[in-house]
Amino acid sequence: MVVIAVAGGTGIAGRAVVADAVQRGYSVRSISRKVPPAEDPRRVDGADYREADFRTGHGVAAALAGVDAVIETLDARTGAALKSLPSTSVALLAAAGRADVARCVLLTIVNAAECSMGYYQVQAARARSYESSAMPTTVVYATQFHNLVAGVFSAGARVGLIPAFTGVSFQPIAAVDVARVLVSEAAAGLAPDAPRHVAVRAGGPSVWSMKALAEQWKSATGRHGVVTPMPLPGSFGTFLRAGKNLVPDDVAGSIEFSDWLASR
Ligand SMILES: NC(=O)c1ccc[n+]([C@@H]2O[C@H](COP(=O)([O-])OP(=O)(O)OC[C@H]3O[C@@H](n4cnc5c(N)ncnc54)[C@H](OP(=O)(O)O)[C@@H]3O)[C@@H](O)[C@H]2O)c1
Repeated sequence: MVVIAVAGGTGIAGRAVVADAVQRGYSVRSISRKVPPAEDPRRVDGADYREADFRTGHGVAAALAGVDAVIETLDARTGAALKSLPSTSVALLAAAGRADVARCVLLTIVNAAECSMGYYQVQAARARSYESSAMPTTVVYATQFHNLVAGVFSAGARVGLIPAFTGVSFQPIAAVDVARVLVSEAAAGLAPDAPRHVAVRAGGPSVWSMKALAEQWKSATGRHGVVTPMPLPGSFGTFLRAGKNLVPDDVAGSIEFSDWLASR
């Protein structure tokens, strides 16, 4: 049976990938530094949970033994863990090579190289490592998740202002839609005639102004706060206003933000 390992299988994207791969009948291994306890909602029935740290290498060789494909959904937001994320991805690729893994698949963000913000530059560096790796690789470039957009509104609502950055639109995608693409790409990448390096873009079903998404979020959640147009300064604002976060020709998701909100 094909064995798929999900590096970061307890995270937002990783959990959806584990669930999708289990549902398709693969043998699935979730690998993270902390293994959730038995009744934890982050666990997916039927998956095998292993503890390993891809940054230090602790436990990695054992966790990857016998794996056919690795799907990397690791993340770090700040500090040394963020700075070292590109070298963590390089270490993962090297460990996968030593373990005779046939393909590594990375989840990252569309056009990250075009935003000078540190987090996006880290994402771009990881993608370059995959694109130039000696390993067979696939990079899935996804648009922002519904969770991320909702998180911005939720944070603002705590101080009574639901932000609607002027001139900004999103094409948000559900983690389960991204997961379907990642698992399909991992499976396709195991075919004998699969190209050595593959790049795929995965966008949500539609492009919406941030103001429209804010109104949808407010009406679905019933949270208080005024939807407030405001400028977003800095390189991320420039990136978003230029629409670099959008891939309208590469729709992969079917779950709209409003449907995702309704299902929660
Ligand atoms: N958020 C978005 O809108 C968005 C959009 C497009 C693409 N993405 C991509 O999606 C990726 C995943 O994001 P996410 O929000 O799902 O991340 P997340 O929820 O923070 O999950 C990160 C996962 O990685 C594990 N992890 C972190 N460092 C590790 C290490 N050194 N060794 C082993 N496991 C480690 C974490 O578990 P432990 O902490 O227990 O180790 C966790 O399972 C990001 O890198 C980004 O490229 C995100």
